[in-house]
This record gives sequence, C-alpha cells and structure tokens, in this order.
Amino acid sequence: MKSKVALVTGGNRGIGFEVCRQLGALGYTVLVGARDIDLGKKAAAELTAQGMTAEAAELDVSDQEQIDKLATSLHSRFGQIDVLVNNAAIFLDPMPAADGLGDRSVFKAKASNIVKTFATNTLGPLQLCQAFVPAMIKNNYGRVVNVSSGDGQLSDMNGGRPAYRLSKVSLNALTRIFADELKGKNVLINSVCPGWVKTRMGGTAAKREVSKGAETIVWAATLPNLSRTNISKGFLGRLSHCLFCTGSISPPWKDSARFRIGFAHMVPPSTPSKPTKNFVG
Ligand SMILES: NC(=O)c1ccc[n+]([C@@H]2O[C@H](COP(=O)([O-])OP(=O)(O)OC[C@H]3O[C@@H](n4cnc5c(N)ncnc54)[C@H](OP(=O)(O)O)[C@@H]3O)[C@@H](O)[C@H]2O)c1
Repeated sequence: MKSKVALVTGGNRGIGFEVCRQLGALGYTVLVGARDIDLGKKAAAELTAQGMTAEAAELDVSDQEQIDKLATSLHSRFGQIDVLVNNAAIFLDPMPAADGLGDRSVFKAKASNIVKTFATNTLGPLQLCQAFVPAMIKNNYGRVVNVSSGDGQLSDMNGGRPAYRLSKVSLNALTRIFADELKGKNVLINSVCPGWVKTRMGGTAAKREVSKGAETIVWAATLPNLSRTNISKGFLGRLSHCLFCTGSISPPWKDSARFRIGFAHMVPPSTPSKPTKNFVG
C-alpha cells in the first residue's frame, strides 16, 4: 500500500522535527519543511538514517510564491499531500522586565512585530491550507493540524505577549472557519496546543519534552476516517460534523496536552473524553 505523505512546516527542529520523527515511525513519507534547505536536509538525513522515508522541502511559510511553487511540485510528484502540519511559528514579543511586563506589555506593542508574527503564524497556515486542502477534498482524505497555543485561547486571555497571542487566537479562528467550510468532507482540521515544551521557543525551563509536545499533534494528524459507529461513540456523542463548542479538553490518554477541536472527529472508541471547560473562540 502507498504510504501517506505528510508535510510539516518548520520541521527542521523543535516540536516540528519530533512530529516528523513520530510520523516517519508510523510509516508516513515525511516532507521536512524548512526555510533553510540545508537544515531541512540535515534533519531529513537524520530520519532517513533511522530507517524512515523523509526528504527536505524548502519552505518559508511567509512567502506565498514559495508555497505555490512547492504545492505545484509536490502535487505533480505525489498527487496530493495527505497530512499538513502547520507547525512553523515565531515569537517576537520582547522579554518581560524583572519587575513586570516591561516591553512585553500591550501598551508597548509594536505594530511591525504584530504584522511580522501574523505573516508567519497565521497567514502562513492560511496560504498553506489554500494551496493543499483543495487536492485533499478532491481525494476525499486530508488531515490538517494547526499548531496553536494556550496563549491563543480567548477564555484564558491575559496580558503580555500581544503579537504572539493575537497570531494564535486568529489561527484558532482560522481553524474554525475552515472546519465549517469543510463540514461533511473527510478533511479534518484541528488546532492543537502542545503544552509548554523544551525547545528554542519554549526555553529550558519548560516542563515537557518534545516527544510529549508532539504526541497530540500526531494524534490529530492521524485521526481515522469518520464512520457512523465512530461518530456515535465520539466526542459528546454528536452525530454531525459540527463540534463548535471547541472545548479545551484534556485527553486522559495524552498526558494532559490540551487540544482544541475545530472539526468533528471521534476519540478512540474505548477512550472517554469530556470537555473540561468551554472555549470562547
Ligand atoms: N515550545 C513551546 O513551549 C510551545 C508552546 C505552545 C505552542 N508552541 C507552538 O509549537 C510550534 C513549534 O514550536 P517550537 O517550540 O518547536 O519552536 P522552535 O523551536 O522555535 O521552532 C520553530 C520552527 O519554525 C520554523 N520557522 C520559523 N519561521 C518560519 C518561516 N517563516 N518559515 C518556515 N519555518 C519557519 C523554524 O525554522 P528555523 O530553524 O529556520 O528558525 C523552526 O523550525 C509553534 O507553532 C509554536 O507556536 C510551542
């Protein structure tokens, strides 16, 4: 059987690289998206050395031309991309002051930082979905995971980090907009928060290892097809596609990584799952 093909943006390091590794271990052909192709090749070579099928794909997610070029070339080689993980992101908000938010306060937020962050963290995923989801619809299969953050959860919104927060709250909205337009199709799109993870962005004080941070992303990237049986056993027992309660739920089998659901799917049939709080998108 032909293996499924997954494109992971920002796959050369951090959580993205671990998502590539976990998908590769599951037998996916992994395209390691990297804006620096040499770093992408190095990461892909590491996976290949571990027996996985991986190659680098040059991709700056803030570059529309590069997205279009890559989509054309990948579609002609593979027909379609089965899984898209919008993982690449930047964090440009300044460090807080010792005695408070300092330049990280919304009162000090620079429009240029917000725009730049938005271009990578929000418009990148939008343009990637526009480039890859139509072929998924045509092929009646697709899984899209937008790697978001608790910082983008409206019901938990606090001060500080305005550029990052605004980009991720918009990413969550984007997930729901796509989800609504994809209703009834076998293309599932979800937003996932990996938790606070030890990476260059998360820093060394973070609590989670990358393996844990990647786990729920991989879970959402590999959701099985919706079927009547699965749906009836699914989240909230709903029978339709629309799950816009968009709960922030703690799946007990995933060590409490939070994820947000933008589209109907089922949980593993034997696994109970309940929303722990409402999410005001
Ligand atoms: N770590 C955490 O605690 C945490 C918490 C919540 C959410 N997240 C989310 O998890 C995801 C991964 O974060 P991480 O911690 O692994 O971050 P990271 O270690 O900083 O890695 C970010 C990745 O994104 C890539 N990237 C940045 N801008 C790009 C662009 N314009 N085009 C293509 N690639 C680009 C980077 O490439 P280069 O190597 O070229 O810079 C790198 O591969 C992000 O969406 C982040 O917001 C992380």
